Amino acid sequence: MSYNKKLTIGLACASALGFGVAAWAGPDEDNLVINGEIEIVTEAAAPEHMEYVDTIYSGWRFRSDETQAVQADDFDNPSMIFVETAMEVWDTVEGTEGKSCSSCHNDVESLRGVRAVYPKWNEKAGEVRTLEHQINDCRENQMGAEKWKYTGGDMVNMVSLISMVSRGMPMNVAIDGPAQSTWEQGKELYYTRFGQLELSCANCHEDNYGNMIRADHLSQGQINGFPTYRLKNTKLNSVHARFKGCVRDTRAHTFKPGGPEFTALELYVASRGNGLSVEGPSVRN
Ligand code: HEC
Ligand code: HEC
Repeated sequence: MSYNKKLTIGLACASALGFGVAAWAGPDEDNLVINGEIEIVTEAAAPEHMEYVDTIYSGWRFRSDETQAVQADDFDNPSMIFVETAMEVWDTVEGTEGKSCSSCHNDVESLRGVRAVYPKWNEKAGEVRTLEHQINDCRENQMGAEKWKYTGGDMVNMVSLISMVSRGMPMNVAIDGPAQSTWEQGKELYYTRFGQLELSCANCHEDNYGNMIRADHLSQGQINGFPTYRLKNTKLNSVHARFKGCVRDTRAHTFKPGGPEFTALELYVASRGNGLSVEGPSVRN
């Protein structure tokens, strides 16, 4: 797409949505160091596959100083209560096999690096899996326990714990080989216009990041910070719950969390953040 065409689309939907006129407020210049020790890369050169964006930014760079500060210290980050709950669950025996997560995985630190490479192709299953899918697979097939609800509390808490042990590592999902066709589906969804507003993810998060939409400062819609604790709904939010909210905002019927469409979209969106640090669980408004 030519620069001009992009600009026209950008402006057309900007006026439809009431974006501030040319009020590009950009990402700020702040640095994120969590607990004074974990350095987080919040800005990086865009991965080669991205055609229209040169630099990628974490959503953290678009938040207010107050919101940013809450994430910079784990004592202030409200996600940590939920992470502690997940640590107890990690050691809790459940299901017909009499096992807990720690029976097989020992310390959760053994999963360091895992968050950074998911969604990931699973050879045995012949499918791309999100972390949530993999956790439910372990519950069902390794523990003989009930699956957790895809966007439910137990699941988002556990994903937060597993993300936390990878904080600071660069996102690095694979998009080639057997994952490629799923990635391409995800890319197509990203550029598809949904709903009565006929807006794609790209119309907001690629063409208009940095602009204000109503009272909100639009980011690139990256997922390196997930799960995110939102001050707005005072709970941890998973990637697919956020996708659902964004699709609903275009007044479209949304897809099922955990379903093939959002899984493909997650792989694609994750790949747009390759190079940014794993930040989760993060804090957003
Ligand atoms: C009986 C042993 C067992 C138990 C119990 C178990 N897992 Fe697993 N887990 C595995 C095996 C085996 C794999 C590798 C599976 C594969 O690649 O198909 C795995 C893979 C994973 C992965 C992906 C790791 C990677 O490198 O891609 C995650 C995340 C995970 N398990 C989380 C959990 C959680 C959370 C629990 C508890 C709710 C749990 N597991 C319980 C055996 C277990
Ligand atoms: C009408 C504009 C609009 C559209 C279309 C839209 N979003 Fe969003 N999205 C927002 C706003 C506003 C926010 C909150 C501010 C921010 O973080 O950008 C947001 C936030 C997000 C976030 C959270 C980012 C973070 O760092 O916490 C993700 C992820 C996201 N969107 C993904 C998507 C995806 C994927 C699509 C397409 C299915 C999409 N959005 C479509 C407006 C939109």
